Amino acid sequence: MPSPTPSQEEIARAAAALRAGDLVAFPTETVYGLGADATNDRAVAAIFTTKGRPRFNPLIIHVPDFAAAQHYGQFTNTAAQLARTFWPGPLTLVVPQQPDAGISDLVTTGLDTIAIRIPSHPIAQALLAQTEHPVAAPSANRSGRVSATSASHVRTDFEGSDLIVLDAGPTQHGLESTIIDASGDEVVLLRPGAITAEMILTETGLHVVERTKPAARPNAPGQLESHYAPHAQVRLNISAPEPGEALLAFGADVPPHDGPMINLSASGDTTEAAINLFAALRTLDARGCATIAVMPIPETGLGAAINDRLRRAAAPRP
Ligand code: TXA
Ligand code: MG
Repeated sequence: MPSPTPSQEEIARAAAALRAGDLVAFPTETVYGLGADATNDRAVAAIFTTKGRPRFNPLIIHVPDFAAAQHYGQFTNTAAQLARTFWPGPLTLVVPQQPDAGISDLVTTGLDTIAIRIPSHPIAQALLAQTEHPVAAPSANRSGRVSATSASHVRTDFEGSDLIVLDAGPTQHGLESTIIDASGDEVVLLRPGAITAEMILTETGLHVVERTKPAARPNAPGQLESHYAPHAQVRLNISAPEPGEALLAFGADVPPHDGPMINLSASGDTTEAAINLFAALRTLDARGCATIAVMPIPETGLGAAINDRLRRAAAPRP
């Protein structure tokens, strides 16, 4: 059976939906992605609520060409060589983020680096070119299920939702992209995929090193107990902050405090709180307080993901 191909009209509608802040599931050569405009906080937050993701893992941004990639990331000569050799294709490069490029903090989870990929799939290419914004996309499956390699997987996982799904049949690789950290001097493999270390050595002469000592490396966020490590100590579930403590508040009933305070959401909205979380932690941290007291945040909506991140911020440092 020949694979379906979305029409030009369908692609144009999907690009318009992304620009309007809606989610679109789209094919890539690896797996189907659940895409959102990476510069739109609310759209990115919707990825996490839609997937039912219990935590905020940093997301990959998808762009149509190297010029767009350079707008959001800084490429060393080595990173640029990898990009020229394997893009477009199933390779994601982690590089330092360009400051003030407008990417939502929920994409990078407050890290200084950003994961970028140029997919080769023609439908992904057409969609990205027409969207004219970087598209953040994890695999288009519900959290805890296997990655979606066909549009029917996507539809099954998100049955009953009005998610736009561009159907181009089964994907070519069926496995997520290789992730290489090319932010420093070494070329470090963070996730194996279709582009192997052997291929990289053969085509570029670059030696890929395996990620070692996961606990000591700050750039493998999903796997670290203590991930976002502000300088300040973080205390959770605090309803009465100590004198001089910074306060990360939530909801309308803010307790008395004499240190700096940021309210994640005065109306108690966990989506709004998620959007503000990483910037708030950075801002409070920059005030130089020894500790940040965090008010209780309910587990509902994005609360579970927020609390997961806060527990990591409060965990003993490696
Ligand atoms: O093939 C793929 O890569 C698919 C398609 C849709 O492009 N996407 C995908 O996304 O697999 P996801 O969210 O399942 O995986 C993203 C991975 C996470 O494991 C995350 O830890 C890592 O990328 N990542 C993202 N930003 C990072 C960063 N700044 N530093 C280190 N790792 C990062
Ligand atoms: Mg995934």
